[in-house]
Amino acid sequence: MDPRRNPYSPGAGSQPLELAGRAELIERAAVALDRIRAGRAARSFILYGLRGVGKTVLLNRIRLDAEARGLASVAVEAPEGRSLPAVLIPNLRAALVRLSALQHGRSAFAGALKALAGFARALKVKFNDIEVSMDIAPSVGVADSGDLDFDLAALFKTIGEAAKKRELALVLYLDELQYVAEPQLAALITALHSVAQDQLPVTMVAAGLPQLAGQMGRAKSYAERLFEFHELGPLDDSAARDALIVPARQEDAAFEDAALVEILAQTQGYPYFLQEWGKHAWDLAPQSPIREKDAKLATITALAELDASFFRVRFDRLTPTEKQYLYAMAQLGPGAHRSGDIAEKLGKKVSTVAPIRATLIAKGMAYSPAHGDTAFTVPLFDGFMKRIMGG
Ligand SMILES: Nc1ncnc2c1ncn2[C@@H]1O[C@H](COP(=O)(O)OP(=O)(O)O)[C@@H](O)[C@H]1O
Ligand SMILES: [Mg+2]
Repeated sequence: MDPRRNPYSPGAGSQPLELAGRAELIERAAVALDRIRAGRAARSFILYGLRGVGKTVLLNRIRLDAEARGLASVAVEAPEGRSLPAVLIPNLRAALVRLSALQHGRSAFAGALKALAGFARALKVKFNDIEVSMDIAPSVGVADSGDLDFDLAALFKTIGEAAKKRELALVLYLDELQYVAEPQLAALITALHSVAQDQLPVTMVAAGLPQLAGQMGRAKSYAERLFEFHELGPLDDSAARDALIVPARQEDAAFEDAALVEILAQTQGYPYFLQEWGKHAWDLAPQSPIREKDAKLATITALAELDASFFRVRFDRLTPTEKQYLYAMAQLGPGAHRSGDIAEKLGKKVSTVAPIRATLIAKGMAYSPAHGDTAFTVPLFDGFMKRIMGG
């Protein structure tokens, strides 16, 4: 069918036409944020899950809905290897400038901007990747001790008080939070905890890979009291069908049931793969309805494309020993495997291969769903490893 009208949107962070199966979470997040704005007790959200389950698009949706209700945003994606202050400062600055441009906002947020200037200046020595020039004189003695824990809490408090005065709320949306180093994560949680205790309207909604839940717990044991942790996974049968059917319907097209069954079986309901299969099936089908035969062809072309791109770029970042480790996991099948079983498959001792496992986790290729277990962070990667290594 006409590729110009293809309604699917595969790709990291591409907003789908139908954000299927997440309505309840969207509503609960909205309730939590509105309660926080009103100075009432509520836990904000941490979304975690594998690559391609839809964390970024859900985070964006929660943000856009909140903006429509008048909540102010600071949206940040944590890059690998940069300090939290380095990414936070310019984005906070932009948000505060926007807020102070609002009617009557100037006086309330001028103090917060000064505190931010002091914060940036004091931390420049410690984090040498801070590259921001604040065109404002810092206020002396506020958030400028040079100690991140202390200063971030003081900064959030100043911002929170200004926001409260203006009956506003400021929400930080932090994507890829697993890349923030644990001491900085601890400082962030401490700061959010202290504004929550003062019932000030500053909070965070965050997303990250599965290891994030453990990292936050280690960083601060009270993270669980501050946040609801929601694991995002594959869509259930009816949501996965909606993810395919609803966009097609908008273009007056439909699927035969057997085509849906084929796509659901192949993608296991993973949102990113549903978009890929939907896109391929649409392009391959001569006309609506999309038939089983079209879906089967889509499996071949979608997998070939994933093998050449999505899976391949991840594979290319691996050393030969890391590839062997993941191949051993793949041979054991999808899901989590005991370190002992993987080592045995490799014919090595657990202690010998432990460093390889550690670098795979650091690279975001594997994670530990439970102590001593290892699993792939990329769905269907086991199949790819077998295709590429197995011959
Ligand atoms: N609930 C959903 N329904 C349909 N498609 C979705 C859904 N969530 C995500 N997607 C699609 O999945 C892909 C990956 O989404 P993304 O948010 O980038 O995942 P993550 O951040 O978890 O890696 C995108 O193509 C997006 O359109
Ligand atoms: Mg993402």
